[in-house]
Amino acid sequence: MERSAKAQNFSAKATAFMSYQNFIELSARQIVPFDGPALARLFESLSKNGDVERFHPHPLTSDEAARLAVHRGRDVYAVISDGDTPDAPLVGYGMLRGWEDGFTIPSLHIVVHPEARGRGVGRAMMHFLHDVARRRGAEAIRLKVYPDNTPARRLYESMGYRFESSGAQGFSAERQIIGLLTLTGALYAA
Ligand SMILES: CC(C)(COP(=O)(O)OP(=O)(O)OC[C@H]1O[C@@H](n2cnc3c(N)ncnc32)[C@H](O)[C@@H]1OP(=O)(O)O)[C@@H](O)C(=O)NCCC(=O)NCCS
Repeated sequence: MERSAKAQNFSAKATAFMSYQNFIELSARQIVPFDGPALARLFESLSKNGDVERFHPHPLTSDEAARLAVHRGRDVYAVISDGDTPDAPLVGYGMLRGWEDGFTIPSLHIVVHPEARGRGVGRAMMHFLHDVARRRGAEAIRLKVYPDNTPARRLYESMGYRFESSGAQGFSAERQIIGLLTLTGALYAA
């Protein structure tokens, strides 16, 4: 099937972005109100790609994107964009949340645009969120991952997350493995 002009346009932009990524730093930043439309487009791409099976911290709808873009609070929502104009595609999205619900250990969630994977975007987002958690004085970060999600597990393990090897303790209700990164003591791997 022929791809839509929109998809081709994004693909060309993503390719251009990735060809330059060896020369520029992938920088994550907190979400701002003008990210709403681009976040909605990212959510649409993720939904079409079936990523909701593995990434479902909240609905991937345009309403949710609009709500998140204007979020103000202690929880952190972050993006990685390939430019600084309002129409620049977002290639990465992540969050640290739980503080607003009274937890001291935040939970981390990340996702990368399907066409931008395997190029360091996920790792850059992890570093950003870890730095935020450290600055906030968090002692640890928690996350959940499905056991067969190899790309995510490898990323998390390479950054120092420890998973329960067996037993009910290491699984969440929806059979995801629970990982924990301790922020006190040794720094996580670069
Ligand atoms: C998991 C995810 C966020 C990784 O993002 P990414 O930008 O592709 O990852 P990076 O390019 O930064 O790679 C970082 C590390 O992840 C691991 N990794 C990434 N892609 C991989 C793959 N296809 N197979 C195995 N390991 C992989 C590697 O350890 C890699 O390190 P290396 O490049 O030094 O080998 C991305 O695949 C994604 O969005 N997946 C769908 C949503 C999801 O599963 N989110 C996590 C829910 S728990």
